[in-house]
Amino acid sequence: MEKQRLDKIIASTGRWSRREVKLLIRQGEVLVDGFPARASEDKADPETAEILVSGEALTYRRYTWLMLNKPAGYLSATEDGRGATVLDLLPQELQRQGLFPVGRLDKDTEGLLLLTNEGVLAHDLLSPRHHVDKVYRARVAGRLTEEDCRAFFDGMLLGDGTQCQSAGLEILSAGEESEALVTLREGKFHQVKRMLAQCGKPVLYLERLQMGNLTLDASLPRGEFRFLTEEELEGLRNS
Ligand code: URA
Repeated sequence: MEKQRLDKIIASTGRWSRREVKLLIRQGEVLVDGFPARASEDKADPETAEILVSGEALTYRRYTWLMLNKPAGYLSATEDGRGATVLDLLPQELQRQGLFPVGRLDKDTEGLLLLTNEGVLAHDLLSPRHHVDKVYRARVAGRLTEEDCRAFFDGMLLGDGTQCQSAGLEILSAGEESEALVTLREGKFHQVKRMLAQCGKPVLYLERLQMGNLTLDASLPRGEFRFLTEEELEGLRNS
């Protein structure tokens, strides 16, 4: 791989800013192939060089994959003149990496959102041909019924003529307001809200819990992100 500046390589992990890297280098905390780095501008091949930062070996990844616990109020876009996007929740160094959200959550939807700069895998994950299930927890107005579950299972025809594939509706609680898990294999515009509205049960709250084999990390606070682990990435590639 082409050599890159040390500060770029180290900051691409999202753990240190370029300014911090500069300081660490000055303090002799960065070793490249066993030798202390001299300057941020020094270059190394990130795939073959052994880089230690404060004694810790850096694992370089060609692509970045993040799990974000999206809060309400942020758009799933890379830029938007109308308000904050999910990229605003990331540190500067990660914002520079050309990351984009893998699919969209509505502005008011919370929960699991993946961000990456690996276009092909992201595209595959979103393709209905690849059968990657997305699971949502929905709170709706009104009492959900077995009939609603059947309508989801049968594949719903929406009011505007959109035909939905068979989907799952598992009722968790039913009353004046109800809660359910919705499982989709596709991702049409506002799909969960439109399907539930068609049943006469408007969505009051929506959160994505799962995408393929990936579950929203319960220890990840709303608005925070973390890197996917090697195992999680491997699972995504195989899903
Ligand atoms: N379906 C919706 O209606 N909204 C989302 O944000 C995701 C799925």
